[in-house]
Amino acid sequence: MNNYVRINKKINSFDKIIEIDGDKSISIRCVLLASQAIGKSRIYNLLKSEDVISTLKSIKQLGINYKNKKNFLEIYGSGLDGYKTEKKVKIDAGNSGTLARLILGLLVNSKNTIKITGDKSLSMRDFSRITEPLKNFGAELLSKKNSLPVEIRGSQFLRPISYDEKIGSAQCKSAVMLAALKTPGLTKIKAKKSRNHSETLFKSLNIPIKIKKGRYFDIIEINGQKNFQGFDYIIPGDISSSSFFLVLTILAKNSKLIIKNVNINSTRTGILNILNKMNANIKIKNKKIYKGEPIGDLFVKSSNNLKAIKCPKSVNSSAIDEFLVIFLIAAKAKGVSSFEDLGELNKKESPRLNISLDFLNKIGVKYKRKNDDIKIYGDPNLEITKSFKIKNYLKDHRVFMMSCIAALTLVKNCSVTINDKDSIKTSFPNFLNILKKLGAKIN
Ligand code: S3P
Repeated sequence: MNNYVRINKKINSFDKIIEIDGDKSISIRCVLLASQAIGKSRIYNLLKSEDVISTLKSIKQLGINYKNKKNFLEIYGSGLDGYKTEKKVKIDAGNSGTLARLILGLLVNSKNTIKITGDKSLSMRDFSRITEPLKNFGAELLSKKNSLPVEIRGSQFLRPISYDEKIGSAQCKSAVMLAALKTPGLTKIKAKKSRNHSETLFKSLNIPIKIKKGRYFDIIEINGQKNFQGFDYIIPGDISSSSFFLVLTILAKNSKLIIKNVNINSTRTGILNILNKMNANIKIKNKKIYKGEPIGDLFVKSSNNLKAIKCPKSVNSSAIDEFLVIFLIAAKAKGVSSFEDLGELNKKESPRLNISLDFLNKIGVKYKRKNDDIKIYGDPNLEITKSFKIKNYLKDHRVFMMSCIAALTLVKNCSVTINDKDSIKTSFPNFLNILKKLGAKIN
């Protein structure tokens, strides 16, 4: 089977209702927490993607068993001291930054040295942002050039820390929260706002946590070494995966889409605020709260009156995985859109800020870049009229998916070839199936 797709036709109008695969951040967190709970946990609608499979393989290597049942996955935890951290365990986190960073937090009390490795993309990412705070708990962490492989050897004499998380990274915040869970005493975290699924899960599991919410920062206090019971959890749809379909619908002609049961936690809905300010018309209906997480159905329609945005940097963190597709909307909007302080985008599965700008350039969109601030000169008549290929050398799943959406909405009398189709397996294996259900012609 070829590992590329070729698109030479815009998608026709559609009017459909879809469901999207389970949320990746919540799936990984649920598996890791279930592996540390006492007794059985049942996780429904777990995302079946490579990042989550790597998470399951990791807990298995640490002596935790699980079983695939018909509608759920059952995990058998044996408490905060339940990992068997035998000698020479090597955990391969694959492409997943969330897994590699969060599991390091859970290994601060490992008895032996454990090595964490990853694929080419993950091995290029910074780990000092997490090894430094974890060392303060008393664990030993070794890495060359601040990147993977990282070796961790835990301590039996952990001490609580005060940690100032300044990047707005949920992975850093969560890894420290998980280390705090293993540590006696009170760990204090001051964290720049970022996705808060770890906090909602801690609360729903009755883990002793106190949160004071500020405008830009939250103060989190965790009292560690308190065991918690196994739990049931139904994972909602992933808003980051949904965003490809929101943008597809907005840019397609005369189309309508309903996406059911999506996580709409406000720390993740930056894209909805940004696109609605640009004159898209996305509505949330049937809102409910499940174990502290808001969930709803997203209603979206095509728009042909998009306007530019001056995007405040305060929304960056709540839209961090969505800028690739937000830039496509900016490219089709009337006027000049501006975005600020997007350096973190270059620290993802690939340098996404550089890659997005190269892509815009390839399809004839004008932009200006000053350090990590960019301006995009939108053109409501934009079309792709010259064939080209996307190489995607770090096999970034979101680069693949964004390129498909661009081609399906902009291509005219030419063809776009997009490599590394397999990359969608890391986060959204059903991406192409759903596109085909909506009528997309993909070769
Ligand atoms: C994630 C946090 C974000 C995000 C990533 C998933 C998480 O990364 O980009 O896809 O599940 O905690 P940072 O926390 O590094 O910003």
